[in-house]
Formats: sequence, C-alpha cells, structure tokens
Amino acid sequence: MSLVLVPTAHGRAARSEGAGSVTVIGLGPAGAQWLTPEAQAELAGADVLVGYETYVDRVASRHGQQRFATDNRVEADRARHALDLAAGGSRVAVVSSGDPGIFAMASAVLEALDDADGAAGDVEVRVVPGLSAMQVAASRVGAPLGHDFAVLSLSDILKPWAIIERRLEAAAGADMALALYNPASKGRRDQLAQAIGVLRRHRAPQTPVVVARAVGSDAEAVTVTTLCGLDVDVVDMRTLLIVGSSTTRIISANGAGGRDRVYTPRSYPGS
Ligand SMILES: C[S@@+](CC[C@H](N)C(=O)[O-])C[C@H]1O[C@@H](n2cnc3c(N)ncnc32)[C@H](O)[C@@H]1O
Repeated sequence: MSLVLVPTAHGRAARSEGAGSVTVIGLGPAGAQWLTPEAQAELAGADVLVGYETYVDRVASRHGQQRFATDNRVEADRARHALDLAAGGSRVAVVSSGDPGIFAMASAVLEALDDADGAAGDVEVRVVPGLSAMQVAASRVGAPLGHDFAVLSLSDILKPWAIIERRLEAAAGADMALALYNPASKGRRDQLAQAIGVLRRHRAPQTPVVVARAVGSDAEAVTVTTLCGLDVDVVDMRTLLIVGSSTTRIISANGAGGRDRVYTPRSYPGS
C-alpha cells in the first residue's frame, strides 16, 4: 500500500497525467453557500461521483459524469468501490456532508486504502475539507465553542457504548464545551438520555445547550435550552447538540436583538 499525497505550492496534490485518483470532498452541512470554491472545482473535474444518495443528490449533475449513489450503511463497500474505479483510471469524487474528515468518508477511504492490494492500494487519495455542522450550528447562536471544546459522536453503530460513555465522562469532567454528533436516530432512542445522565453528574442543570437541527436547509430549527430543559424527543439524526462548559453564558433574547445568544468566553477571571 502506498499513500501518495504530494502537495504543490497551491496546496493541490501533484497528479500524474491519466492516472486515476480518489478525492474525498466535504460539501458542508447543507446548501450551496457552504460549498467551497476548491470543492466546486474538484466536483467539476471528477469523472465519477460516489456517495450516500442524499449527498450525491446535492451535487448538480454534469453531462458525462457517472454517479454511484448508495445507502448510508455501506461506507466500507463504497470506499472500496471508489478505489477500484480509480485503479481503473477514473478521477473519483467521494462526497461527504460537512467535513469529510469528521465522522465521515475520509477515514473509510483511507482504511480501505490501507487494506487494499494491487492497483487499488496505489491509488492517490486526497481530502478536500468542508465546513462542519458544529461550526455552522455554533455560528447560528454566537460562539458557544469559543474556548476549548471536545467533539464526540454518540453513535454506537461503529463503536461500543461503553467507550462513548467513558469518553463523555472524561470530556464532561474536563469542563469543556461539547459538540455532540449523531445524538439519536430512529433506531437509537435511549442513548441520548443516558448521555445526558452522564453529563448531569458533572454539569449544572442550567448549563446552556444548543439544539441545532438541519442547519442550512429549509427545515432548520435552532433553539437554546439547558441541560435540565432538553427534550430528548425532539432530537433526531439531523440534529447536532452543543453543551456548554461551566463558563458558557446565555445572553437572553431581551438583551440581544430578539434572539438568545450563547458564548463561551476565551479568558478566565484572573488570567
Ligand atoms: C455522520 S455525521 C457527519 C458529520 C459531517 N461530516 C460534518 O462534518 O458535519 C452526521 C451528523 O452530523 C450532524 N449534522 C450533519 N449535518 C447537519 C446539519 N445540517 N444540521 C445539524 N446537524 C448536522 C448530525 O449530528 C448528524 O447526525
């Protein structure tokens, strides 16, 4: 296996003429406004698009470009397929929501590359960053991630719940703000209540919580609540949660132009 990542002066990887490649591209959390110019150029230059159908649908179709849209549970198969297509000479764009390196396809493609034999193991792989959901969710209410924070996925599909609980316990105990991805889905309804139970052992009931659903889409809903006020039933797989630290503050709507604002100061008293 060889990973060929050779940045040029412009940050683009050098690519030998005619060779296939895989570029894992972040589309941002929703909408065209967060698609970077770099991502747009990569999408336009790809022979083949590969990805979860919802994300492939977000990319305008181009004449002559092939599209392979698959179910979201087949990440490893999709990654291997992308490498095989590239080994055959195609320029393959694997599309991912948000940033492809955050709970997304970049790891899956590199894992497949690591396991691949023959031509697939020699494919050039690059990652094009995107805006992650936590950044957009945070910006909607102010700056809740303005100081140290930790990022966790609450999904126990690919890792055991015991590990998630241990990490939550450690992060909560370290008094950092938390961005919680994959907090719940149709099939995972109990984990969030358990996670809140862990957080309540370390954080005050009035700790600010931002509930950001489908940011950037027509269904966007962002609310500010507290750890004891959070209604777990409104949280689904399109939701991201931000839980404040002990220093995170809410500026109530009355004093902030009609909207609750949330921020975590960068300085500590006396520092
Ligand atoms: C598999 S992860 C993908 C994360 C993505 N790579 C990123 O950087 O944003 C899916 C989770 O990201 C969060 N998410 C993705 N898009 C979102 C959006 N538009 N609004 C709120 N949360 C979102 C949700 O927590 C969702 O369950």
